Amino acid sequence: MTSRQVHVFEPATYARSAAGVLAQLMIRATQERGACTIALAGGATPIPVYRELIRAERIPWGLVHVYFGDERAVPMDHAESNYRAAHEALLARVPIPSSQIFRMDAARPDRDSAADDYAALLPDRLDVLVLGVGPDGHTASLFPGSKALLELDRTVVPVVGPKPPPERLTITPPVITRAREVVVLATGAGKAPVIARALSGSADPADLPIVLARHGTWVLDTAAASQVPRG
Ligand code: 6PG
Repeated sequence: MTSRQVHVFEPATYARSAAGVLAQLMIRATQERGACTIALAGGATPIPVYRELIRAERIPWGLVHVYFGDERAVPMDHAESNYRAAHEALLARVPIPSSQIFRMDAARPDRDSAADDYAALLPDRLDVLVLGVGPDGHTASLFPGSKALLELDRTVVPVVGPKPPPERLTITPPVITRAREVVVLATGAGKAPVIARALSGSADPADLPIVLARHGTWVLDTAAASQVPRG
């Protein structure tokens, strides 16, 4: 992982600019290793960025393998499914073989078994890990105070979180720290306090899980970056 970078864009150009940052990392991975393994974030922030990725030229989609950082325990066609959101915004609109898209089966009744099956699919190191962040500092489905934050062996675990839908599968801290590139996407003033705390370097991941991404690439709009010290 390169040393931390913070990109700040105006809201009007955020989605296209953030897509440009992701595209550059994806293309570099395919040039260096012949393929790109990328895990997508859930939530609303990434959706316009995924849509802009459709137009990013030079991404060799036939060499891209798509994973997910977390998923809610809902059917794959449910309005709250992270898979469905990414599929509609991007995956159904680019020439990526369906065999290279790896959905988390979070709706399986035995979520522990689903977690282990997904862990077996994950590469040892993701090339690109896309993360969002909640106003409480959670990322993926790693919420403040969760025992999943202490997980050092399993790479995927079932959790019950405060953000509905509560039952989920999530990657664990080792997946974040081992990723070659971590990209945090955040917009809006509501995220500004946790982003400032996370980038200040003094916060504990147990309280602010997004701190796990502190050495990554932060792609913020001006509102989300508004409390980050300049310089
Ligand atoms: C989820 C996401 C979650 C999300 C943040 C930010 O499944 O809910 O993985 O971690 O990234 O909650 O969500 P917004 O982008 O909608 O603010």
